Amino acid sequence: MAKVTIDGTEVEVQEGINIVEAAKAADVHVPHFCYHPSLSVVGQCRMCLVEVEGMPKLQAGCSTTVKDGMKIHVYNEKVDKARKGQMEFLLINHPLDCPICDKAGECPLQDYAFNYGSVESRYGEFKRTYPGMDRTSIGPHVVQNMNRCIHCTRCIRFTQEITGTSELAFFKRGAATEVGVFPDTPLDNWMSACVTDVCPTGALTTREFRFENRVWNLDSTESVCNGCDVGCNIFIGHRNGQVFRYRPRVNPEVNDHWLCDYGRFSYERYETDRVVVPKVRTDDYLGISTWGEALDAIETALRGASVTVIASANMTNEEAFLAGKLFGEHLKAKIELTVDPIGPIRMKSRTEWLEGMQGAPNYRGVAAVLGVASQNPAAPSFKITSSDVVYICDAEFSEKAKDPAFIAELRKAKTLIVHAWDATHPLAEAADILLPATTAAEKEGTWTNLQGRVQRIHQAFAPKGQAVADLEIFRRVGAKLFPQAAEFRSADAFDIFKQLRATVPAIQNAPMMEESAAGAW
Ligand code: SF4
Ligand code: SF4
Ligand code: FES
Repeated sequence: MAKVTIDGTEVEVQEGINIVEAAKAADVHVPHFCYHPSLSVVGQCRMCLVEVEGMPKLQAGCSTTVKDGMKIHVYNEKVDKARKGQMEFLLINHPLDCPICDKAGECPLQDYAFNYGSVESRYGEFKRTYPGMDRTSIGPHVVQNMNRCIHCTRCIRFTQEITGTSELAFFKRGAATEVGVFPDTPLDNWMSACVTDVCPTGALTTREFRFENRVWNLDSTESVCNGCDVGCNIFIGHRNGQVFRYRPRVNPEVNDHWLCDYGRFSYERYETDRVVVPKVRTDDYLGISTWGEALDAIETALRGASVTVIASANMTNEEAFLAGKLFGEHLKAKIELTVDPIGPIRMKSRTEWLEGMQGAPNYRGVAAVLGVASQNPAAPSFKITSSDVVYICDAEFSEKAKDPAFIAELRKAKTLIVHAWDATHPLAEAADILLPATTAAEKEGTWTNLQGRVQRIHQAFAPKGQAVADLEIFRRVGAKLFPQAAEFRSADAFDIFKQLRATVPAIQNAPMMEESAAGAW
């Protein structure tokens, strides 16, 4: 360990880390553009200059490692002057685009221009521009505006060092240097949109989010991607109950700074008609009902019936717990669990590659809580025809739920009960009792990822219409059928989680991201 003093604060940090990282321990931010904690250090933007006592010139904070006893000045007059000079160089050619740039509001160049930019330019000539390169589609997801580029090479290093695909490079020389893709080699790798996160300007933006919303109008909620079992940590960017984007939330042990394109844009599935009221089939007509009428119909169907329950790897651990109480302990129903195989989707944590191979976030958690793990999770053996009632906990449990032959098989049951949020899903039409459920963005709980890590998802906004989370649906059905049972009096995800933590070994012993990071559950 090394003891260093940063702007008067003494901190103890690991010997050998650079000054930008060491300063974080003293809660001091060193301005920087080209440095990125998960990419190689190139020391080329010179924005991170700091003064180190005993060294004659200012030092680049990204490429200078700390030594015991170092005294570092991040904010003083000398450093300030250097930063102002550096910003003057960068702004000579940068367009005045902030009002029409999607990066505005979360742009390091804009922030540092406020702190270190001059209100007047000493340069009278025209700005350098890259004619025809101000809205270039360089891949399926990424749009480039070369006029905004500050040549930091973060994007180039990302494709070289993380994906290893090297689609991006510098072309031409000197003031004409440009970032581009090679002919016939678009930026089309499975994590391509990460370059828009690492770009410190609006030079690279995603086709999907471009001009959709100003970032300061969006609320941000911490959650987890449900595209696969890696469970990448995300921020949900949303406004008025609509998801506008997912951004990576740094977790060195899972997804570091990254998201795959499939997961990043998977929120687009929520842009559909929603199931907002319960429906009950009467005389072969699926008509709108109240929650009370739907629960009456469920009670009539379930009492004394043989029941097959199809659980879902999209359920939270807490939902699986209440489903287990209702269907396993009280109704003695047969519970099936399946998950679609996908990928593999490769995701890089800080230290290793993970491979997502299941098309849902929580097979491991649901299987552990329900005690129904099978050798081959993708191939359960449904015995539907022998049941009076088939109860589907989530219409999205598998892609095969959209297959007409499979739906015809389900329809052989006397009563088909379905939780669904997508009104265009074939099961929403086929159901005898349809219950309005929520998307993952509208509920609380935990998922267990492929490492066995239990990660929390947060509700970004309230459910649509009369929809409620599966947890509340199980509680309502349980309370209707078993009014004396204490477990159906509350659907508080936190209370249930505490019970899971105390009773289910796979959750008891799981590493908890939030406990270590924020002290929350
Ligand atoms: S496009 Fe962005 S990330 Fe790439 S070199 Fe330019 S400023 Fe840096
Ligand atoms: S690797 Fe899986 S969890 Fe991560 S972003 Fe992609 S789909 Fe989502
Ligand atoms: S961040 Fe250090 S030179 Fe760019």
